[in-house]
Amino acid sequence: MIALSLAEIAEIVGGQSYDIPDPAVRITGPVVIDSREVTPGSLFAAFAGEQVDGHDYAVRAVEAGAAAVLAVRPVGVPAIVVDDVQTALGALARTVVERLGTDVVALTGSAGKTSTKDLIAQVLQRHAPTVWTPGSLNNEIGLPLTALRASDETQHLVLEMGARGIGHIRYLTGLTPPRIGLVLNVGTAHIGEFGGREQIAQAKGELVESLPPAEKGGVAVLNADDPLVRAMATRTHARVTLFGEGDDADVRAENVRLTENGQPSFRLHTPTGCSDVTLRLYGEHHVSNALAAAAVAHELGMPVQEIATALSEAGSLSRWRMEVTERPDGVTIVNDAYNANPESMRAALRALAAMGRAAQAQGGRTWAVLGKMAELGDASLAEHDAVGRLAVRLNVSKLVAVGDREASWLQLGAYNEGSWGEESVHVSDARAAVDLLRRELRPGDVVLVKASRSVGLERVALALLDSESEVSGR
Ligand SMILES: Nc1ncnc2c1ncn2[C@@H]1O[C@H](COP(=O)(O)OP(=O)(O)OP(=O)(O)O)[C@@H](O)[C@H]1O
Ligand SMILES: [Mg+2]
Repeated sequence: MIALSLAEIAEIVGGQSYDIPDPAVRITGPVVIDSREVTPGSLFAAFAGEQVDGHDYAVRAVEAGAAAVLAVRPVGVPAIVVDDVQTALGALARTVVERLGTDVVALTGSAGKTSTKDLIAQVLQRHAPTVWTPGSLNNEIGLPLTALRASDETQHLVLEMGARGIGHIRYLTGLTPPRIGLVLNVGTAHIGEFGGREQIAQAKGELVESLPPAEKGGVAVLNADDPLVRAMATRTHARVTLFGEGDDADVRAENVRLTENGQPSFRLHTPTGCSDVTLRLYGEHHVSNALAAAAVAHELGMPVQEIATALSEAGSLSRWRMEVTERPDGVTIVNDAYNANPESMRAALRALAAMGRAAQAQGGRTWAVLGKMAELGDASLAEHDAVGRLAVRLNVSKLVAVGDREASWLQLGAYNEGSWGEESVHVSDARAAVDLLRRELRPGDVVLVKASRSVGLERVALALLDSESEVSGR
């Protein structure tokens, strides 16, 4: 971040200084909330969580080199004391971004935020120094922490924004006002908490409402293929640009196909020209993400050739999202266990089907090892049933449903669609799934592992990649 003195920070956040011998000392390191991440010159923000209270680590943080602590009470080491650490962090981020004048690109959507943010970052980085959300730190704490990593050199700040309710995105855009706002899609992620898709659209659209008007450079980048996203054009004064597969999209893809490996390739069209792209990412759903990234890069003045090359070279920066590993014995493991919702389940199953087509022709089989999709409220039964059925329709060879009630709905959906005998099975937990798979897998098989975060199904993928390891926990 920019080197602010403790006195300046105290003023920005409206805090009281305690035990600070020299208020002119500057913060030269990152702002962190985990004392183990402190480096010399850091500011340690003490949060009181349910299990741990950051204030208990204040001394340790300063011993490790933190210049001061942001806290709600004096802690016996240099501290700026505020009423609320989150609010203070937000105020600090807002001021730093404003002073730096960094151009902010913000994106939201139900599925694909992190994947798309990683694509945008890899494309823009070629153009100018870029700071972006690490992993999926897209909430009221992760967002200011990311913004505070920006420095004088930073030209682009790419921020993922998550929402679990109305007003969340508005709050985040208030901290780091974006000039370019991208909305990917409106799906069913967290629908139980929101109440319905209309409410989700309402919440995500707060992003485009926050943008500056067109004459001040505001740009809303909207998915032309998603009617609820497209309709957000009426909620913004920013200029609207569309991406998607439809003919009227400003940035679109033509001749979309999947390679034998399941990697999408297409011709990228932008208002300034066309170029061919083959992604290193797996699954057709990444076409939409790549188009979104291309639309943002185009708005920032990158030539289409450069965008296409950057997209074609971009890898997956965040873990357990369609992470493909081939074992020495020829079994392929696709670890997509970071999270799941109905849209991403369908996308992953389609990718599995595409990746397995060549394998199936040679006698290999595709396996979908799936666990529950959380937070679906009343839609849960129908959505699990539909995913089970889709696996059968896509000709996935074997379904292994892992876990309790929702897993049984998955398996029942597959059964009712015609997946009998040993084609679909229901096992109680990750360990049972691994035991079954270790017995059954043979060279040429392709295995997809996917469920909501709370299931922790990556344990299955990791155990299958390491024949020695035991499945831990849960
Ligand atoms: N455009 C898309 N449509 C459907 N599924 C997608 C899309 N892009 C990515 N996915 C899948 O959705 C899952 C989550 O991807 P990603 O982490 O990029 O999304 P996210 O929106 O950041 O999620 P979160 O809300 O957990 O932060 C992955 O399984 C990924 O393969
Ligand atoms: Mg994310």
